[in-house]
Amino acid sequence: MKCGLALLLPLFATSRASAATFNVNNEPSILKLEEFRALGEKPLIPHNVRPHRKIFNHKREEDLEINVQAAHANSLLDICKKDHHFIEASGDLHVLGIQCGNISGTITFVNYQDSIIDFGDLESIGGDLIIENSASVVKIQGNKLRRIGGAFIIRNMTSLVAVELPYLKHIHSIEWKVVPILTTAHMDDDIEDVTSIVISDSSLATITGFQKVKMLEIFDINNNRYLESIKANVKSVTKQVRVHANAKELELELPELISAKNITIRDTSLIDLSKLEKVDNSLEFIENQLTKLTLPNLRSIGGTLGIMQNNMLSSADFGNVTDIQGGLVIANNTRLEKIDFLQKLRQIGGAIYFEGRFQDTEFPVLKMVKGSAYIKSNSVILDCNKWTTPVNGRAIIRGGKVSCISGRKQKTQNISEDGKVLNETETGGNGEENKENGKNGLLSRLTSSGTSAFASLNIVSVVGISLMLSIIHVAIIR
Ligand SMILES: *[C@@H]1O[C@H](CO)[C@@H](O)[C@H](O)[C@H]1NC(C)=O
Ligand SMILES: *[C@@H]1O[C@H](CO)[C@@H](O)[C@H](O)[C@H]1NC(C)=O
Ligand SMILES: *[C@@H]1O[C@H](CO)[C@@H](O)[C@H](O)[C@H]1NC(C)=O
Ligand SMILES: *[C@@H]1O[C@H](CO)[C@@H](O)[C@H](O)[C@H]1NC(C)=O
Ligand SMILES: *[C@@H]1O[C@H](CO)[C@@H](O)[C@H](O)[C@H]1NC(C)=O
Ligand SMILES: *[C@@H]1O[C@H](CO)[C@@H](O)[C@H](O)[C@H]1NC(C)=O
Ligand SMILES: *[C@@H]1O[C@H](CO)[C@@H](O)[C@H](O)[C@H]1NC(C)=O
Repeated sequence: MKCGLALLLPLFATSRASAATFNVNNEPSILKLEEFRALGEKPLIPHNVRPHRKIFNHKREEDLEINVQAAHANSLLDICKKDHHFIEASGDLHVLGIQCGNISGTITFVNYQDSIIDFGDLESIGGDLIIENSASVVKIQGNKLRRIGGAFIIRNMTSLVAVELPYLKHIHSIEWKVVPILTTAHMDDDIEDVTSIVISDSSLATITGFQKVKMLEIFDINNNRYLESIKANVKSVTKQVRVHANAKELELELPELISAKNITIRDTSLIDLSKLEKVDNSLEFIENQLTKLTLPNLRSIGGTLGIMQNNMLSSADFGNVTDIQGGLVIANNTRLEKIDFLQKLRQIGGAIYFEGRFQDTEFPVLKMVKGSAYIKSNSVILDCNKWTTPVNGRAIIRGGKVSCISGRKQKTQNISEDGKVLNETETGGNGEENKENGKNGLLSRLTSSGTSAFASLNIVSVVGISLMLSIIHVAIIR
């Protein structure tokens, strides 16, 4: 058997899996047409398979036989062309398989009470496959199913342990949510035309089977608490990459990824984005356990770059980034001593927000920050003058305000749009007085709905505002 490595579960999940598999093996085998033929008028039915009218309406098996032959003779049978099939029991699915082989519509499971979903002779589903809200199903299987023309949706299937569809190669999109004990998923290794992958709340331990997929719209893997490895060769993600709340040990490897619309990565321990060149929208790394974050080929970020609460992070390198069109938020990475990893950054379209214990900041070629700047460190070594002393009479911060607070002193300046320092205040340490003008002022203006404050102070570009807002919002609610 061609065993698609699609989503493989190794070690950890084994104990659960074997327990669950035991149940599977104990289930009576699923309804087979041959059983009807052999048993004549009164078929013996496994206790968990409910009789179904479509079968029992055929008083004689010969009728069924004729139907099947007719189906094969000309596959124009109405049932095969129906837009929507509602499957209530395994018999329904079995009949569909032998009558049609290929169906053009969508299949939805409704009130399905059996323990196994077996696609039998079904080879292709033209529409979606929707399997949801059944606590009785432990396994989904099918040795002929090759294609799902639409979405493959599995939702709220709390007993589902395994998906065994080893020849399934063509799927338009995958959306699996709330499958808390799903530990094995085998599909064809060569899946390449899938456009979107969402896997949430499962017990899968690895997701490594999408090696041939080159382009995706969405890659969203979250709340899979045993998931320790994600590997994919995708080159471009046109909407979103989102990875969060999986196992803390999660290693995320997307070594071929070149461009993405936006990327949010949380709770991982290793990130490989070594070929990433361009992010159209925002790029966020939050609460990861990494020690190192290196994106050597990244050149531009269309939105905000956020690096927050990565408590182990001690070194970073974004050495080829020249342009960040949104804000730059680097906050609470407690082991990061220097913010000096954006050596080629020339321009920031939004605001700057730095917070933490860093002792130094170094932006050798930064020429312009269109928003304001809030910089706060507990360090007594941090030199605020770097940010508050204009070079050649003009400040690089053009958004109206610079606040820099170090363990030593606090300095706040108002700055005109063309970079002239209008006035400034300076106090001796982590004073409370000017906080309003700095962090809280910036944050409250960022979170207030009124735009007039922005208009007059030119705090951040609109893009910057919304992106920073979402980041700060996330930070606050957590
Ligand atoms: C289903 O479609 C495939 C591809 O078009 C074809 O090769 C196969 O014979 C069809 N199967 C049936 C049972 O009609
Ligand atoms: C999940 O499925 C169960 C039946 O297994 C149902 O009772 C429950 O309402 C479903 N939950 C949601 C959120 O749909
Ligand atoms: C990322 O992209 C998705 C899809 O386009 C969008 O819904 C989401 O709001 C974006 N997130 C950010 C932070 O821009
Ligand atoms: C910048 O990109 C070039 C070309 O890809 C590469 O050789 C170089 O190492 C990168 N620089 C940094 C600091 O990562
Ligand atoms: C950084 O940590 C401090 C103290 O825990 C917290 O008040 C602040 O909101 C955090 N900042 C961000 C941007 O997460
Ligand atoms: C700072 O300058 C601005 C613009 O000239 C002015 O409106 C504001 O009152 C000044 N603030 C202080 C404290 O001098
Ligand atoms: C900046 O200007 C505002 C009013 O425009 C004023 O309240 C504030 O005190 C000024 N800040 C400094 C440092 O002078």
